[in-house]
Amino acid sequence: KKVVLAYSGGLDTSIILKWLQTEYGCEVVTFTADLGQGEELEPARQKAELLGIKPENIYIEDVREEFVRDFVNPMFRANALYEGEYLLGTSIARPLISKRLVEIAEETGADAIAHGATGKGNDQVRFELAAYALNPDIRVIAPWREWDLTSRTKLIEFAEAHQIPIAKNKRGEAPFSVDANLLHTSSEGRVLENPAEEAPDYVLQRITRPEDAPDAPEMVEITFEKGDAVAIDGERLSPATILTRLNELGGRHGIGILDLVENRFVGMKSRGIYETPGGTILLAAHRGIEQITLDSGSGHLKDSLMPRYAELIYNGFWFSPEREMLQAAIDKSQDRVDGTVRLKLYKGSVRTVARWSDNSLYSEAHVTFEDDAGAYDQKDAAGFIRLNALRLKLLATRARRTKG
Ligand code: ARG
Ligand code: SIN
Repeated sequence: KKVVLAYSGGLDTSIILKWLQTEYGCEVVTFTADLGQGEELEPARQKAELLGIKPENIYIEDVREEFVRDFVNPMFRANALYEGEYLLGTSIARPLISKRLVEIAEETGADAIAHGATGKGNDQVRFELAAYALNPDIRVIAPWREWDLTSRTKLIEFAEAHQIPIAKNKRGEAPFSVDANLLHTSSEGRVLENPAEEAPDYVLQRITRPEDAPDAPEMVEITFEKGDAVAIDGERLSPATILTRLNELGGRHGIGILDLVENRFVGMKSRGIYETPGGTILLAAHRGIEQITLDSGSGHLKDSLMPRYAELIYNGFWFSPEREMLQAAIDKSQDRVDGTVRLKLYKGSVRTVARWSDNSLYSEAHVTFEDDAGAYDQKDAAGFIRLNALRLKLLATRARRTKG
């Protein structure tokens, strides 16, 4: 039996690796993805080798460009936010990891994949729905749902019994659970579990506190083509490079901190601290360019579809016909979403201050408060209002007639 494990190199997935070898008698293939989490990946290779994984069974891949090009950018075309605020940084990374797990399973002749998500969360659902959508025969092993290592103490004992190296600070309780990639860092659990208590500042890993951010604002210009950011300050850059640069800018200026209590798909509420510096700038910029390039019909329709689209991603249905249907509609809306937005970054805030496009629908000739030289006949508005008011007048007349 062979299994492909989503392996971070951290303590938990190292324990899972050993557990798969000892309890399941599996040959383990490890997959470690560079999603821009900002950690060296070579230590993961060394650790996998130390734990007895054959070199040809260690897969380490930089998937940052694919992540932004094929997952983050399509999602940002929709301005997706879950429950009004969450930019879906973890949710959007899971389908990519699952896709590679399934592909590597096929390449190496493995019949199963394994992940380190718990039985309480969203991530198990996302990993597994994506995997089954891509390979209906794949088997999934989720050790957290099976083993009896139900406390930190038992985990540490298991690690010590199997010579798994444990970083000093990991011996006690980890202060909280972190998931990071190019789009965001999320922190949940332990010191954050009481939503009535403020999160301590040390939770923040990549964003400067707004009160410590520079006193001078900074401007940035982002250029879009078909709804995707393609350049910063006139310089054309790859998708992952753009997000990396925006992360630096947003992080420095205290932009993109969110403290949220959200509804997990499995039914419980959870509290998380999210840091999405570049994504928060990108969302504002994308809204800015849509303001002048989308008409109200397509703009309002895509806004009405957005919560549903975001929920599909949150719930793990990236690889589903309904997500693809919505994506097709959203992508179509972006055909003419080209142009540039200038934003001002200052102490935790990002504000669009200018936007321009060859495809702009904005007509100063129509909207001007000055003489419009006949572009618009104000008399037309009288009939427009008369007909829109007709049913309101009928309602008001009835109310007057039948009341009291
Ligand atoms: N609550 C967020 C979500 O469901 C973040 C999950 C974080 N995952 C983690 N392994 N800490 O998308
Ligand atoms: C986990 O339970 O593994 C992390 C949190 C989540 O998936 O929602």
